[in-house]
Amino acid sequence: MLMSSKPMFDLAYDGGFGIGAFNVNNMEITQGIIEACAAEKSPCILQISKGARSYANMRFLRKIIEACVEEYPEVPICIHLDHGDTVDLVQQCIDDGFTSVMIDGSHHEYEENVALSKAATDLAHANGVVVEAELGMLGGIEEDVVGLDAAEYEKNVEQFLTDPEQAKDFAERTGIDSLAVAIGTSHGAFKFTSEAKLAFNRVEEIMKTCPGLPLVMHGSSSVPQEFIDLINKYGGNMPNAKGVPEDQIAMAVRKYGVCKVNIDTDLRLALTAKIREVFATNPAEFDPRKYLAPGREAIVSMVKRKLDMLNSAGKADEVIAKWEADGKTMPAYYNKSACCG
Ligand code: G3H
Ligand code: 13P
Ligand code: ZN
Repeated sequence: MLMSSKPMFDLAYDGGFGIGAFNVNNMEITQGIIEACAAEKSPCILQISKGARSYANMRFLRKIIEACVEEYPEVPICIHLDHGDTVDLVQQCIDDGFTSVMIDGSHHEYEENVALSKAATDLAHANGVVVEAELGMLGGIEEDVVGLDAAEYEKNVEQFLTDPEQAKDFAERTGIDSLAVAIGTSHGAFKFTSEAKLAFNRVEEIMKTCPGLPLVMHGSSSVPQEFIDLINKYGGNMPNAKGVPEDQIAMAVRKYGVCKVNIDTDLRLALTAKIREVFATNPAEFDPRKYLAPGREAIVSMVKRKLDMLNSAGKADEVIAKWEADGKTMPAYYNKSACCG
């Protein structure tokens, strides 16, 4: 069932579980995610970056997501813009039927971030769409914005973490619905050069200065070593890849109350490892179904593993009940168009 992330976060906030937000770029990735969520009876956020919009063409992605909603009515699904950078892009996503958007002004000066996030929030709220914004800076590559490399980021990490007092001011002045925080995570497959360590004390402090505001962790792939080994074994070249250990993500969600956890890299690794394996073990294979189907299966297993880590398996019915009890308020788009769910 298509919905906003609001009932998901309302329950996750102090429910000891987190919502997995998975990046979608094509049919196989989306099918893998939704199949895992249906099998685990878990809610999910399907998120689309600007890059995904231009790669796949939004009209195609929307139809694939509509098919998920029709095929799996029992799965709570939110369609979310990942790392939106302009108010125009937010408007396009509102027009495309997104139920949630992110505006990411974290690489701008503070006042500029406030102004951009507030403008996007005012627009989205006027259309019944919820908003995530970001404060603080992550490492790694983020859309067109190239962050610092892992070594440099780790060395200076304190200066990039989200400031709890600033977070309070930011949330009050922008009116956002959730906040992506920098607590030591990075985008991509090379997150740490030494010991992986998250600043959980920051999460605790931000929860105190911003009570009731759902927090989001980007850059939360774990880069499981077995997938890196498979990729490297079958012709890849990803030495020293390292992610956030799964027990730290589990703790962020279960103990510290983080509501949304973004995962993209681990899906890419699963798909790539499987396709490489098929090509390496059967060089004569040229039927795309013969390598995309195992790739899709690898996504299903990876997402099931994540839902378990996030403790969101089995929470679908509860989320739907909350959504229905709250009156199922959909964005304005669904009042004027044929609704897909
Ligand atoms: O945070 C970025 C996501 O992993 C999306 O990546 O911009 O390459 O689609 P992308
Ligand atoms: P990863 O690169 O760790 O998967 O993070 C994805 C993300 O934050 C998408 O917004
Ligand atoms: Zn991100």
